[in-house]
Amino acid sequence: MKNNITDPSLICSVVTLTYSLQKMSHLVPSSFSPFIHLIGILWLLSITSSRCEISFKKFSQSGVVDERKKQSDPAVDRISSLETVNTNQRQGKLDSEVHRISGLEAAKLTIERTSFPKEKPVKESLVFGRCFSDHMLDVDWKKLEGYGEPKIRPFGDLQLSPAATVLHYGLECFEGMKAFKGVDGKIRLFRPELNVARLNSGMQRLNFQPIDQQNFLDCLRELVLLEKDWIPEGEGYSLYLRPTAISTTPCLGVSGATDVKLFVICSPCGPYYPGGFKPVKLFADTEYVRAWPKGMGNKKYGGNYGPTILPQAQAAAQGYQQILWLFGEDHVVTEAGAMNVFFFLKKKETSSVPQKPGSPNPDYELVTCPLSRGDILPGVTRDSILALARSWGEFEVNERELTMGEVVEAAEEGRLLEVFGCGTAAVVAPVSEIGYLGKEICVPTGQSIGPVAERLWEEITSIQYGRIQHPWGLVLEDSQRDLSSL
Ligand SMILES: Cc1ncc(COP(=O)(O)O)c(C=O)c1O
Repeated sequence: MKNNITDPSLICSVVTLTYSLQKMSHLVPSSFSPFIHLIGILWLLSITSSRCEISFKKFSQSGVVDERKKQSDPAVDRISSLETVNTNQRQGKLDSEVHRISGLEAAKLTIERTSFPKEKPVKESLVFGRCFSDHMLDVDWKKLEGYGEPKIRPFGDLQLSPAATVLHYGLECFEGMKAFKGVDGKIRLFRPELNVARLNSGMQRLNFQPIDQQNFLDCLRELVLLEKDWIPEGEGYSLYLRPTAISTTPCLGVSGATDVKLFVICSPCGPYYPGGFKPVKLFADTEYVRAWPKGMGNKKYGGNYGPTILPQAQAAAQGYQQILWLFGEDHVVTEAGAMNVFFFLKKKETSSVPQKPGSPNPDYELVTCPLSRGDILPGVTRDSILALARSWGEFEVNERELTMGEVVEAAEEGRLLEVFGCGTAAVVAPVSEIGYLGKEICVPTGQSIGPVAERLWEEITSIQYGRIQHPWGLVLEDSQRDLSSL
């Protein structure tokens, strides 16, 4: 109600009405004047009530979103919680304003098929991110209307004002996920709800209207099923999906988006290691910083990646494949390139208490950077590795700060057992060496993959390719289609 009364268009209507009534009351005999005022009041009431109804419907829609969120996997909350808390606390009113307008509705999806299907490349020739499928998902959002009708349309260029704020102020965020063709011929997504949660967390931080998880996944399913022949078959092959949200608002002022485009493009890709695992050398960078607490490091925000190109090129020139990003005076380990990073260590202080049968061995720990500082990406693979390793119950699994000093000490004392990056692209990427302050830290697994990393790779890829049935592997089937309009 409050929003309706302060709505500028409503205020305009009231002012115009009052002015017109004043004018009219001079033109008609005074005995008609009360009738004119009565008509005016009835008109005013009808505007207010119809707006109340729209507002009520829209608030109830956002209620559905909240209800779904409450029932969701706790991992979804881990990935999006920090932002939700902050946004709700600081922008409670703003949020409710944003939620008032139309959400993304899969039921309105339309499909325009291409008349010029492209020839599919030989899968062995695929280079990551260079080849695109025939269709894309495309939906526009406008501040006063919300999301429009989602469309699947032929893949093609976007039309954009040169003043669009995405081009000047980087108002954009994106996702990276994959569709797999399994050994059983079924198509699977891996924990896609976590990608939607992370996309929403980025969108909220940019003050874009979040999307409803189920409606977005319904649209995505239609796109992936339409493009199913673009999913190359075989171990390591997949269709990479790139959901992206950009502000198309044509305005040179640094201001909130009034127009957003959300789209998804698909790119067939091959295995990260075509010839078997090839461990990477990391350069622990003490010069540049990727992200910092309370910044955007925990979002898939384009602005996090542009500034990594130069340091990456400098590291490559010295023979390193990826950067190990550090934070703070103590050189706390955060991420490796565009991956989260894990260290498997033997602890310095070994436990004097004998290990209870079936409980994790307290002398060993798998360590990764915590999410609490908000400066690392909450990776889907990271979350999966933590859950799997904890389910084994064989060693401690800790999300804690690990400094380079500790890594050097562990290596010197023979307690550094494995280091590996993880992410959607590689699943796990074993590390052979870390260059730090002019010295090389050698990881004992050398040119092969360690047993912990290999087991994690095996378990995750088995879910992705349907070698084992697991709730994390979401099977996309034509029979799930419930979109009556298609
Ligand atoms: C900076 C960064 N860290 C970590 C990851 C790994 O995240 P995920 O496992 O969700 O792919 C990515 C890749 O998306 C990334 O860009």
